Amino acid sequence: MADQIEPTGPVTAAWEYASAPESTDIVRLEDRYGLFINGEFAEPKSGRWFTTINPATEEPLAEVAEAGSEDVAVAVEAARAATGAWQGLPGSERAKYVFRIARQLQERAREFAVLETMNGGKPIKESRDVDLPLAAAHFFYYAGWADKLGYAFPGRPTPRPVGVAGQIIPWNFPMLMAAWKLAPALAAGNTVVLKPAETTPLTALLLAQVIQEAGLPPGVVNIVTGAGETGGALVDAPVDKIAFTGSTEVGKAIRRVTAGTGKRLTLELGGKAANIVFEDAPLDQAVEGVINGIFFNQGHVCCAGSRLLVQEPVFDALLTKLKDRLQTLSVGDPLDKNTDVGAINSRAQLEKIEELVASGVDEGAEIYQPPCDLPERGFWFRPTLFTGVSQSHRIAQEEIFGPVLSILTFRTPEEAVEKANNTPYGLSAGVWTEKGSRILWMAQRLRAGVVWANTFNRFDPTSPFGGYKESGFGREGGLHGLEPYLTFDGSAS
Ligand code: NAI
Ligand code: MG
Repeated sequence: MADQIEPTGPVTAAWEYASAPESTDIVRLEDRYGLFINGEFAEPKSGRWFTTINPATEEPLAEVAEAGSEDVAVAVEAARAATGAWQGLPGSERAKYVFRIARQLQERAREFAVLETMNGGKPIKESRDVDLPLAAAHFFYYAGWADKLGYAFPGRPTPRPVGVAGQIIPWNFPMLMAAWKLAPALAAGNTVVLKPAETTPLTALLLAQVIQEAGLPPGVVNIVTGAGETGGALVDAPVDKIAFTGSTEVGKAIRRVTAGTGKRLTLELGGKAANIVFEDAPLDQAVEGVINGIFFNQGHVCCAGSRLLVQEPVFDALLTKLKDRLQTLSVGDPLDKNTDVGAINSRAQLEKIEELVASGVDEGAEIYQPPCDLPERGFWFRPTLFTGVSQSHRIAQEEIFGPVLSILTFRTPEEAVEKANNTPYGLSAGVWTEKGSRILWMAQRLRAGVVWANTFNRFDPTSPFGGYKESGFGREGGLHGLEPYLTFDGSAS
């Protein structure tokens, strides 16, 4: 093992790659996008529009309708009117539509990936290799359940759909979150009103076109664009269920206003995951996992491994390796196929990251950022490490949602568990060790919905995902993700 814990030699310079930009020719942007209601694109009754931009260039991409409460009401009525026909279809027929969406996502994956990167700032290699394949996989997976609902939950009454689902999604994985929400809802026989995030509406609107072409009955899927006010109107509308992914603050507000209304609710909120490296871990693999854990998608990841807990004997070795590795990350144009860290999603998010990083410096933690040139326009933040972090620092407690890693140390497994669980959140955790027994011991004690062992940020549609404590409740993925869209009250449909 000795060779694994030796610090590496002199710092390796980042490899110079010639730029390899992905062409945007495949994307045909419209000047204006209306609301997708009852199978048609419609002008907003609110009369309001907003501009959506490319965060890497700050250039406008299109005008998008802002749905007011009247628009949301029309969308919910359309969804309500469509419930009978949609629920009346045999499961095998509903499955055909969901499969059709999955296949279209695969056929048009490149177009979707480029648009996702243009509107959200994430590296093309991620939208191409992660977001789109996983989004399609979710539709495929849930399509397979549509005609097997009666067998999915043995020993329970035959399930029925809940009705109309209002679904509110964030900007960090726009297409993937749309898939997580739509696929189980549709397979279970619900109709939907989906609200994408205000900074990233374009792939959802392209999906609306796919849904139109797939011939889904009008009203089964409705997509209303807008910001928090539009989301609030959807929460207040006469829907049967709300599914929300986003900030803990908004999640709490939604919980308050839905209490006592009979609306079902699932919340997938923030996180402050511990990625825990034991002294017996394969350090080079751990470095890759730590880098992926926090710099994937600029750290705009609810389950990001934003707190690194390192066992003291390997702290120096791991830190040296991490700093070396940080210098090889290429930061910049998200459309470049070599880019590892793209643009921050919005100016507001950049300001939040800057404010929290400044608090880390003020509170006495030591900051490390590799030298790298950043583009002049757009929203950018250098990959950042903090050492000398204590539990009470804001950067150890609060979700930064950016490319910023806070590093702490521990001596014993008990101390690692104590520190890992000392957060209001409980979404995910990572454990790096060569001992299987230690993985199991840790997994039993970590209060996190997902515990990854010797890997991080692994996703599969068959596997449930969700949190404890202020990370929310309810699960998405797998059979667990189907359940919130079904009712088991045993009454005849
Ligand atoms: P947010 O929670 O405000 O936005 C998420 C979604 O909720 C968007 O579609 C937004 O339009 C909608 N929304 C906002 N206010 C609403 C309201 N009152 N009622 C209904 N819907 C509403 O998140 P924001 O402001 O974009 O990001 C703030 C922080 O939240 C981030 O820095 C990050 O820490 C966290 N966050 C966590 C996410 C996760 O995946 N768990 C995703 C996005 C943000
Ligand atoms: Mg907000």
